[in-house]
Amino acid sequence: MLSQLPKVTDPNLLVGTETGDDAAVYRLRDDLALVQTVDFFPPIVDDPYRFGTIAAANALSDIYAMGATPLLGLNIVAYPIDLPKEFLVKILQGGYDKAAEAGLLIVGGHTIDDKEPKYGLAVTGLLRPGEQVTNAGAQEGDLLVLTKPIGTGIITTAGKNDEVDEQVLAGALESMETLNRGASAAMLHTGVHACTDVTGFGLLGHLHGMALGSGVGAEVRLSQVPLLPGTWELAQRGIAPDGTRRNLKSLIPHVRWDPSLSEEAKVVLSDAQTSGGLLIAVAPEREQHLMDQMTGHAVSGAVVIGRIIKETPGVIHVLP
Ligand code: CO
Ligand code: CO
Ligand code: CO
Repeated sequence: MLSQLPKVTDPNLLVGTETGDDAAVYRLRDDLALVQTVDFFPPIVDDPYRFGTIAAANALSDIYAMGATPLLGLNIVAYPIDLPKEFLVKILQGGYDKAAEAGLLIVGGHTIDDKEPKYGLAVTGLLRPGEQVTNAGAQEGDLLVLTKPIGTGIITTAGKNDEVDEQVLAGALESMETLNRGASAAMLHTGVHACTDVTGFGLLGHLHGMALGSGVGAEVRLSQVPLLPGTWELAQRGIAPDGTRRNLKSLIPHVRWDPSLSEEAKVVLSDAQTSGGLLIAVAPEREQHLMDQMTGHAVSGAVVIGRIIKETPGVIHVLP
């Protein structure tokens, strides 16, 4: 929708809205740039404290996806005036604790009365100009690395309808609460070509954005994409959030599905994520270094899921 508004340009605006990147980057000095992003949404889990931790991890993720260090955060809160305040305190406490883990200072915020609660953060980070990792630098031959399994949209939707067992839900919550800090440090130490985090547009939606912005295509192998335990079974039962179905529909012109792929496969790969992992394009000769760095930063789930290919910009081939 931003494309329908006048273009914002400035010589110091190093990353703006053009390629739908994770955050804006603005150069203050030759050695310092501001990084800004905002994210908030309604509760996706019943526990208010854990909703707070997940919302904060999710808001911080765009900062990590740019290769930046988080500095200041502002709470964004919508809350029904007639709901007990104790739930809101728990949400904010969750956000505060996750921010503290990240070294982010929450220094204020704004609350409005609303029928449905919503919570998130505007986050400001810092980086050295030139060290930003955009979503537009992927090159033909790069390998695609994903640092967290997918399925949080499907699992939390099942959770809202009490259609999921405790263990499956717990796995998704733990994944969403995990900061992308270690993955971000690993990619910075390695030197990679492009990065974005996997959130509302799903794995293929964000990969499409990266490929389009980079002027390349991509290839993904379903068999290599890590799924949260329980995701596949729930997808087979036809459970998926509306956002996932919208993603799948809007991907139609851009994705070449192998004819053997099932409907569940398409739904899972389009599943709208909250606080998903980093999706990184790395030169093949740097891949082992990246994986060693991931291990060194206690990121256990990073795997290669495909590669960047020469194709019409933004086109993705999905193989079994
Ligand atoms: Co993002
Ligand atoms: Co975002
Ligand atoms: Co380090």
